[in-house]
Amino acid sequence: MLTSAEERDTRTMLLGTQRINEQGHLVVGGCDTVELARQFGTPLYVLDEEAFRASCRAYRRAFESRCPDSLISYAGKALINVAVCRIAAEEGLGLDVVSAGELHTAVEAEFPTDRIIFHGALKTDLELGMALQYRVGLIVLDSLEEIAALNAIAAERRVTTEVLLRVSPGVTGDTHYHIQTGKTDTKFGFSIVGGAAEQAVAAAMAASSLKLRGFHCHIGSQILDLEPFAQAGQLMVDFAADMRDATGLTVEDLDIGGGLGVRYLPEQRPPSVEEFAQAVGGTIKRRCEERRLPLPRILLEPGRSLVGEAGLTLYRVGVVKEIAGIRTYATVDGGLADNPRPALYGARYDAIVANKASLPRHRKVTISGRSCETDTLIVDLHTPEIAAGDLLAVQTTGAYNHAMASNYNRFSRPAMVLVSDGTAEVIVERESLQDLVRMDRLPERLRRKR
Ligand code: LLP
Repeated sequence: MLTSAEERDTRTMLLGTQRINEQGHLVVGGCDTVELARQFGTPLYVLDEEAFRASCRAYRRAFESRCPDSLISYAGKALINVAVCRIAAEEGLGLDVVSAGELHTAVEAEFPTDRIIFHGALKTDLELGMALQYRVGLIVLDSLEEIAALNAIAAERRVTTEVLLRVSPGVTGDTHYHIQTGKTDTKFGFSIVGGAAEQAVAAAMAASSLKLRGFHCHIGSQILDLEPFAQAGQLMVDFAADMRDATGLTVEDLDIGGGLGVRYLPEQRPPSVEEFAQAVGGTIKRRCEERRLPLPRILLEPGRSLVGEAGLTLYRVGVVKEIAGIRTYATVDGGLADNPRPALYGARYDAIVANKASLPRHRKVTISGRSCETDTLIVDLHTPEIAAGDLLAVQTTGAYNHAMASNYNRFSRPAMVLVSDGTAEVIVERESLQDLVRMDRLPERLRRKR
């Protein structure tokens, strides 16, 4: 239960191109959501193209005006499919991929591979080989094993490849434990504290098929406070300058990762991209001057803050159950399988009854999913009178929803439509029942004898 101090704001939060039309329906990308649900079915992921493009542009503008040599790479783990890669490419972004699957998607989208950065806590030989085959721009190495493996594969193919080392600066963002990734006590990368990062620099510089261009860090995700980013920026410059002094390394790239938070609830006020760029870019520039380090190229790899607010999910309310004096539940036709974040991280969301978007929200309803467990999506959402058949639009589901969806309970993963200027087009098809059994195989002895 929420305490009264945590009571949600009852104002209707509209994001991106969202508005409410004369019929009181929620409209996004110029498309009436009631019509979208009728045409494409529910649950349905809806991506607001203009909102996504606007955040790509805001990021580029904010960083390029401060550090002309910068590259904003979209972290595909937040949401990846061919259309999204195409948009990121058109906007002049780079792309951060972490698996053969993400790289393959980018290649299918004809994403310029020299703007791809290959990441991941453990890359297989197959993936390192693919990264070389497609000549990705940078490979970020996470372990001594990986330095050795990539060096060997590159030597065998008689190529050299440009790499960064992932270091953990020892900064903790105030976010969920599962998504704090820049601490010293982490599986990721090489810790500056204790000297592992310095040893990795020596190993990478000695690897004859690798060219070490610099360093990467990523301190966590959904961080709403700028201080940890500024701290990480400063520690990275210090580490880079120390390595220059100790080894003569020319540091060409500093990659500060992603992590900026977005607005899930009306009362949240995440920093703007301008403020973020000021904190990160400003700190790095200042510290580089102090340490007399030529300003490296600055790389960023935001995921959530590029795509999170551009997505919403439409669900049909199927059941409304009032437990007198206790609570009203509205159960929708999706849940845990298409959005595991409330269950995994206790994530909180806001939602609008999309067919009654202009009505006052005087009721308090708990939104639950349809899976075979208590999969609460939203506790105590303020809604108008709600009934079976109503349409619910859960906000801010662009990042880490479709990307983390599963087939639990053998639910089909929903379709995704891209909306813009009043048109809606499917960019990911809804899985069919046949898709669900496509990978199943019957051993000979279980086949029906005819
Ligand atoms: N770069 C690296 C190396 C990362 O590990 C991540 C996210 C990003 C960039 C992008 O971070 P963003 O800007 O999206 O915060 N599934 C979790 C989030 C996990 C993030 C993992 N790494 C969630 O749903 O909250």
